[in-house]
Amino acid sequence: MHLEEILYTQGFGTRRVCAGLIQQGFVTVEGRPQTDPGADFDTTGDTLRFTVQGTAWEYHEKAYLMLHKPAGTECSQKPSTYPSIYTLLPSPLRLRPNKGAVQGVQAIGRLDQDTTGLLLLTDDGQFIHRMGSPKHHVPKVYEVTTKHPVDAGQVERLLAGVVLDDDPKPVRAAACEATGELQLSLTLTEGKYHQVKRMLAAVGNRVEALHRSRIGGLSLSDGLAPGQWRWLATDEVEALRNARSGQPKVGVGR
Ligand code: URA
Repeated sequence: MHLEEILYTQGFGTRRVCAGLIQQGFVTVEGRPQTDPGADFDTTGDTLRFTVQGTAWEYHEKAYLMLHKPAGTECSQKPSTYPSIYTLLPSPLRLRPNKGAVQGVQAIGRLDQDTTGLLLLTDDGQFIHRMGSPKHHVPKVYEVTTKHPVDAGQVERLLAGVVLDDDPKPVRAAACEATGELQLSLTLTEGKYHQVKRMLAAVGNRVEALHRSRIGGLSLSDGLAPGQWRWLATDEVEALRNARSGQPKVGVGR
């Protein structure tokens, strides 16, 4: 692929801007300075490394990443009260083109402003669709801090199913275990609005803090501080594509 096209597809600006960056000597590929926008590089396997104005970047045909969402951020492009999670991402991730338009990566589902933890983002529309499809039901694990002590009756009711106010069909936790007096690990395979908070309220308790630790087989990386992100490896993306409900791994990786 031509170098100008590589930069363009990775979100470094219009083709013209990218050509200018290269011609002015702001780009290196695999450590070597480049000035020809038409220079050809092999991008197969997503292994190409380059820098633009000193910023190191990896070529990715499609972007898949995990973000450690901090509290006090909104998962919206147009937040109402708190800063958007998108402000935590470098501009190329927000400016990646899709079918000629600037689109950037998008969060797969949303977490509440006060929820922390694992959030996936991508610019692959089919992947977003697949992960959100009702047929796919990828298990998501939440670590819940409760206001009142968790008792066995509450755990039983969460597993048996509780009725929320917008649907007479009960929703149930795929897995649920008390992990401390005020701690619960809860696995859900659906993603209804405020689902954990509403389920806890339905059993007479209240969520004080909520953290998503796992989606399918993928845990939030230990080394990733709140606000930090990292690329997903190809095998992690494949595992998510093939994740099915019925395989929740509650308790692993904590
Ligand atoms: N359930 C909630 O109540 N809030 C979240 O952010 C995620 C799941």
